[in-house]
Amino acid sequence: MKILAIESSCDETAAAVVEDGRVIVSSVIASQVEEHKLYGGVVPEIASRRHCEAINGVVRQALEEASLTLSELDALGVTYAPGLIGALLVGVNFAKGLSLSTGLPLVPVHHLRGHIAANYLAHPDLKPPFLCLVVSGGHSHIVEVTDYTQMKVIGKTRDDAAGEAFDKAARTMGMPYPGGIHLDKLAEEGNPDAFTLPRPKVEGAPYDLSFSGLKTAVINLIHNASQKGVELPVADLSASFRKAVVESLLERFLKAAEDLHYHTLVLAGGVSANALLRRRTAEECQKRGWEIYYPPLALCGDNAAMIGSQAYYEYAAGNLATTALNARATMTIDF
Ligand code: KG4
Ligand code: ZN
Repeated sequence: MKILAIESSCDETAAAVVEDGRVIVSSVIASQVEEHKLYGGVVPEIASRRHCEAINGVVRQALEEASLTLSELDALGVTYAPGLIGALLVGVNFAKGLSLSTGLPLVPVHHLRGHIAANYLAHPDLKPPFLCLVVSGGHSHIVEVTDYTQMKVIGKTRDDAAGEAFDKAARTMGMPYPGGIHLDKLAEEGNPDAFTLPRPKVEGAPYDLSFSGLKTAVINLIHNASQKGVELPVADLSASFRKAVVESLLERFLKAAEDLHYHTLVLAGGVSANALLRRRTAEECQKRGWEIYYPPLALCGDNAAMIGSQAYYEYAAGNLATTALNARATMTIDF
C-alpha cells in the first residue's frame, strides 16, 4: 500500500511516499530554518506563508522522485495535530483538496505518533509493545506504546519541553536557532562536571519531568557572569547542561521501564538526535540486557516519511478522516 504523506506542523514543509508503513519510496523536506534564524525562533505567520508557497512543489517532487502519479497511490496521510495552527492548516487543507479531487482516502496523523513511527522505517523488526521517550521541541513524554495506534502517556514535562530547554539555554549562550544541535556538538568538547546544576523532581509524580528550573539556573549563571564581565567556558557549561537534561530524562525513563516491565525502549523526536541521550540510553539498556531503538539522524527531525509510516497503521485501524477534518494546535497522543 502506497501512501503520500504531508507534514507542515512547524517550520518544515515535507511530503513523502511510504510503502506498507515501512519503506521510504521518496521523501522531500523544504526547511524554513534559515529565515526563522533571523528572529531566534519560529515566527508562526511566516511559517504559514512559506508552507503555502512550498507545498505544491514539495508534493510534486515527492511524487516525481517516487516515479508515481496520484492514480497509483492508495491513500493520503496528513499531520493534523499538534503544532502551529496556521502551519497545520496548510497541510490539512491541501490534503483535503487532494483527497476530494482524487477520491483517495484521507488519514489524519498525530505528529508525535509520527515521530515514534520514524523508528518503524529504520528498524524492520521493531513492533509494539514498547516504552517510548518522545522528546521534541514542544513535547517531552514517556509513552507506553501497546499497539501501533494504542498508547498511554505515563509521564510528561510540567513546564518546558526538553528541546525548548536546549534551545533557550543555547540561545542565551549565543548560539543560532535551533540551538539544541549546536549545544550538543559543543558539549562533546566540554567537561560535564564543571558546573553543578539543579535536577528538578516533581513531587508525587515519579515519571514527570520539569526543565524550567534548570533552564533558569543556566540563564541566571550566564547573566551574572556577563554582569561581572566574567567569560564562562561555554563548552563546559553546554556539557553540564546537556548532562543534567539527559540524566533527568533517563532516570524517569528507566524507572518507568523497570516499574512497568518494559524491556524494549525507543527514543523519538528531534531531541532523540542528541548524542549523549543516544549513548547513555544505549549503555543503560546494554547493562540490563534490554533492547534500544532510535531513529537514524535523518529521521529524528520533522519529515513526512514518519507521517506516511504512522498513516499506514492508522488506516489499518480504520482511522479515516472526512473533509470535515480540522487542524488542532494541541492534542494528546493517547486519544
Ligand atoms: O521533533 P522536532 O524536529 O520538532 C518538533 O516537533 O518540535 O524537534 C526539534 C527540537 C528542537 O528543539 C531542536 O533544538 C532539538 O529538537 N534538537 C536537539 C538536537 N537536534 C535537534 N536537541 C538536542 N540535541 C540535538 N542534537
Ligand atoms: Zn516534530
